[in-house]
Amino acid sequence: MALLHSGRVLSGIANTFHPGLAAAASARASSWWAHVEMGPPDPILGVTEAFKRDTNSKKMNLGVGAYRDDNGKPYVLPSVRKAGGKTAGTRRTWSSRRGGSHWEACEGRCPKYQASRAKGLRRHPPVPTGNGHVSPARARCARPPLLGLPGGRFSLFGLRGKSGRTCSRGGTEDALDVCEAPAMAALCGCDEKIPEQSVLLLHACAHNPTGVDPRPEQWKEIAAVVKKKNLFAFFDMAYQGFASGDGDKDAWAVRHFIEQGINVCLCQSYAKNMGLYGERVGAFTMICKDADEAKRVESQLKILIRPMYSNPPLNGARIASTILTTPDLRKQWLQEVKGMADRIIGMRTQLVSNLKKEGSSHNWQHISDQIGMFCFTGLKPEQVERLTKEFSIYMTKDGRISVAGVTSSNVGYLAHAIHQVTK
Ligand SMILES: Cc1ncc(COP(=O)(O)O)c(C=O)c1O
Repeated sequence: MALLHSGRVLSGIANTFHPGLAAAASARASSWWAHVEMGPPDPILGVTEAFKRDTNSKKMNLGVGAYRDDNGKPYVLPSVRKAGGKTAGTRRTWSSRRGGSHWEACEGRCPKYQASRAKGLRRHPPVPTGNGHVSPARARCARPPLLGLPGGRFSLFGLRGKSGRTCSRGGTEDALDVCEAPAMAALCGCDEKIPEQSVLLLHACAHNPTGVDPRPEQWKEIAAVVKKKNLFAFFDMAYQGFASGDGDKDAWAVRHFIEQGINVCLCQSYAKNMGLYGERVGAFTMICKDADEAKRVESQLKILIRPMYSNPPLNGARIASTILTTPDLRKQWLQEVKGMADRIIGMRTQLVSNLKKEGSSHNWQHISDQIGMFCFTGLKPEQVERLTKEFSIYMTKDGRISVAGVTSSNVGYLAHAIHQVTK
């Protein structure tokens, strides 16, 4: 018997302490939670759980999309450390300095923090990550049909499985195809079938899980379809800087859409490119027709936010805003992002050359052609299973690996294992 209270599990209390309490607890369980079924394990967190249980010293976790340094250790960006030092003593919030209460307004409108938008666009309120939830909730109410490239996080919209339509030639199975038959050709191919005013979910850069982004000319085609069909372009940007090493370059598609007069919405996350995973920092931007429309939209967003997380956590937001608004720190951070991107690119090349050294006759070029944190290897589920069982290498069943988990010391072992299960 376990009691859940405020998120903590108080295990075995009923049996240990008081028979009366045990009776009360079991009555509680039967009356309220007895019917609750075990939820399925999260496909990514489940991989980490299995990895943790493995005692093999050579084990590798390639499931989780968090950056690791070349020693396989979590990386605290020096710029984040510095910014953290600067903000550590900050007791008063922006609102309290202005005589308000000691918490942030629900839209997170710390003036410095608005700098976030400058990385991509030019307007609107930053909120913590989870911002994907805010706009889908609104978008779902407004315009139900939903489309996206493979891997589009339909679950954000409360849709599961195939309820959201994937615009590729068949989603993950064919994702390697996307390299040759670009995703946008696929989107344009089903152009005629797209219902007007659908929501189109797009990854702005470093597509997860395929590692294949549309090229600029393909983004132009998508923008043209979006305009023609009056679609709502919803950009999810969780890996800015990880694609090319240059944050501005990675935001090109978003800017192009805006230049085309498309009123996009953009969800940015700083979890990966600032390593602020636990801080829930991001920004949500909606481009509106004019100031009046922006005010009305903002008022609706606040209504959505208030019962959801009410007001954002401050610590990570302060760190992000300090970095974005302090020229030296910002410059340093951009270099650090480039450093992370370059390490990942280097690991891709090393993996390919190690596979060749192993004697693999397959064409692994897609590993080095793909970009961003993830690599869609093309490994089949049974090969993935063998990698896990025989080599303690963990990844999602679709063959996606987080290249951030590959290091100079384990890349050879990974290549060897992949060769063994693919020859
Ligand atoms: C494409 C994409 N969008 C959003 C997220 C989530 O970002 P966050 O955890 O900051 O909300 C992730 C990563 O987990 C992602 O891969």
